[in-house]
Amino acid sequence: MSAASQHLARVEAALAVARNALQAATDVDSLRRTANEHTGKASELAKLKASIGSIADVEAKRAVGRAINEAMQELDALVHARIAHVESADLDARMRTEAIDLTEHLGARRRGHAHIVTQAWERLEDVFVGMGFRVAEGPEVETDFFNFTALNMPPSHPARSNFDTLFVDHGEPESALLRTHTSPVQIRVMREWGLPIYAVMPGRVFRRDTPDATHMPVFHQIEGLVIDKGITFAHLAGTIESFTKAFFGSDFTSRLRPSYFPFTEPSAEFDIRRADGRWIELGGCGMVHPNVLRAGGVDPDEYTGFAFGFGIDRMAKERHAVADLRDMYANDLRFVRQF
Ligand code: PHE
Repeated sequence: MSAASQHLARVEAALAVARNALQAATDVDSLRRTANEHTGKASELAKLKASIGSIADVEAKRAVGRAINEAMQELDALVHARIAHVESADLDARMRTEAIDLTEHLGARRRGHAHIVTQAWERLEDVFVGMGFRVAEGPEVETDFFNFTALNMPPSHPARSNFDTLFVDHGEPESALLRTHTSPVQIRVMREWGLPIYAVMPGRVFRRDTPDATHMPVFHQIEGLVIDKGITFAHLAGTIESFTKAFFGSDFTSRLRPSYFPFTEPSAEFDIRRADGRWIELGGCGMVHPNVLRAGGVDPDEYTGFAFGFGIDRMAKERHAVADLRDMYANDLRFVRQF
């Protein structure tokens, strides 16, 4: 066998070994290592290339050189193809193992539900919308004007006291506060809507109260406001009674007791009577004071109206016989999941 054909046979053999080794390597690192072993400086092919000089025949020398170059090129292409293949297989495998089947998790988990205060809030809106009212909302941070002055509580009024009010550091001292009731929304609605007005205004309110079984410093109210021509106290009493029956059931009734609020005249507390005969105090109401109508831009000689406001939390508490208001805000799932 000539030196040339011996060389060619060794190139063939080295190529075959390299091909097999590359096919056998299954990750990027070992492919790189194998490629270096079979095409790098210390490889059989590199050695063969270095020994071409020992071939005397020029034609044969060229043929062996070409064979080595072709072998190198083939192996180079094979390495790249193998790396690409292994990488995409890796990705596939990772996608398979790391994929999260969201539908499976949704199915396995319990569905949540609205908090009992939200449930009461939404039912209240539904009942009033059914009676022809529209829903409005106002800001939780109010100005002194909307929360007090416009509601016939002049600067000296005791209801403004620091004992009740959480003032906010904004502008003039004591000019901005967390609203102490939803009544300021009455003024906003009067100023923004045309007459007549049939509105309910639910929302969160804030008072400087120490939490106990029946008080929280943050709670919820729903305000009602009706302004039209010829509205009387009888409309107020009738509305409260229809609401009581629509919301609590036909075995409930309501009553009004004389009371005092600066923004209504006359004013009343309203109570509801449960089927078992027990009375529950629900909220305040009355005929809108002429000063309040004026603050809202309504002419009290032409229009009259009534307003009411009551606590939503207390209704949820009554409805579900919750003993302590604080339980409603402790976020203990054992409590929340009962409803
Ligand atoms: N704003 C009063 C309160 O928070 C309730 C009320 C509203 C009374 C409307 C009369 C009219 O206690």
